[in-house]
Amino acid sequence: MIPDDIRNDFPLLSEVCYLDSAATSLSPEPVLEAMLEYEHRFRANAGRGVHRIAQMASQKYQDAHQNVRKFIHAQEGELVFTRNSTEAINMVASGFPWQNGDLVITTLLEHHSNLLPWMRLRDRQGIDLRLIAPAQDGTLDPAALEAVITRKTRLVALTHASNVLGNVVPVREFAKVCQDYGALLLVDGSQSVPHLPVDVERLGCDFLCFSGHKMLGPTGTGVLFMKEPCLEPLLVGGGSVDRVTAAGYTLTEGYERYEAGTPNIAGAIGLGRAVGYLEALGMEDIRHHEQQITRRIIDGLNGIGNVQVFGPGSAGNRIGVISFAIPGLNPHDVAVMLDGEAKIMVRSGHHCCMPLMEQLNIPDGTVRASLHCYNTIEDAELLVDTVRKIARDF
Ligand code: ALA
Repeated sequence: MIPDDIRNDFPLLSEVCYLDSAATSLSPEPVLEAMLEYEHRFRANAGRGVHRIAQMASQKYQDAHQNVRKFIHAQEGELVFTRNSTEAINMVASGFPWQNGDLVITTLLEHHSNLLPWMRLRDRQGIDLRLIAPAQDGTLDPAALEAVITRKTRLVALTHASNVLGNVVPVREFAKVCQDYGALLLVDGSQSVPHLPVDVERLGCDFLCFSGHKMLGPTGTGVLFMKEPCLEPLLVGGGSVDRVTAAGYTLTEGYERYEAGTPNIAGAIGLGRAVGYLEALGMEDIRHHEQQITRRIIDGLNGIGNVQVFGPGSAGNRIGVISFAIPGLNPHDVAVMLDGEAKIMVRSGHHCCMPLMEQLNIPDGTVRASLHCYNTIEDAELLVDTVRKIARDF
């Protein structure tokens, strides 16, 4: 059960109906306070100085690493802080020891961030790239992977949940196929880690990438989970070395190897606090809460004659992402009307998924409502009532 009074932690909710958390979630006051505490009380570099506030900053930074690591049930040393999922995926694409003839498989369900790095790898390094297509409701069948995977497959890159259609992908089944063929599995958890319990051991993935700003944390924070430290670091420099001489250097072991340069210390502390906030609410409870609201939105929109709802029909295997369209109205116009009529904030367009829109034959894209723990049934009703009015008056 999610207590209603958590809404007091998100002051913006008193002004707008925020249904755009798949783009970026709001941050609660405790996250902002944790970041401000760093600025006010121990603003120093982390992992570098020995004076007292440098030690405090270092400790808080390491605590944030531990909090996030435990949140996804990773082992010590398996987690690297990045700027966002996009950076994490690019770190894998550019740092993996690719060999001639390697095959990468990804899907048409992916966000551009889990597509472009592989396309660039194909174009620059001659890696073979294959794309598998989802069904019209977004469902991805592991049989589609089995149909194209070969022993030359080095990596399968797969979203855990669609940022357009909301469907949750059966990653464990895909992981089994990857294991049978000795392929590594990268999971884009940008839309799943903020909304469902995620355990990297259970998922069976080798890499998991996600962004802090979609999980109540600050922008400019993200995570790369890496089961084996098999990547060449994207950057080298301060903080990532054991020893440097005029002749060369030895990189350190552990996450520092991949975090050259001063990191986003306040951001990391905020992300660590965001994880604590989500854990206190309970990820199962967040999932259940969002599913109830999702069901109300899907049922409500389906009850309006001229509204088309995309994605799986039931809320069961979905996250709180609901894409829809009013045929004849451009999605951006609908989004502007929702804002103007009722201060409802949604995203519209292709949602950084142009190939998916092409595959689904939705050239103008969709209107997308997306939830987080702070949304309510009243938000769902306001959305449905306002869409009904727009569809009727149009
Ligand atoms: N990936 C974010 C979205 O889907 C930006 O809106």
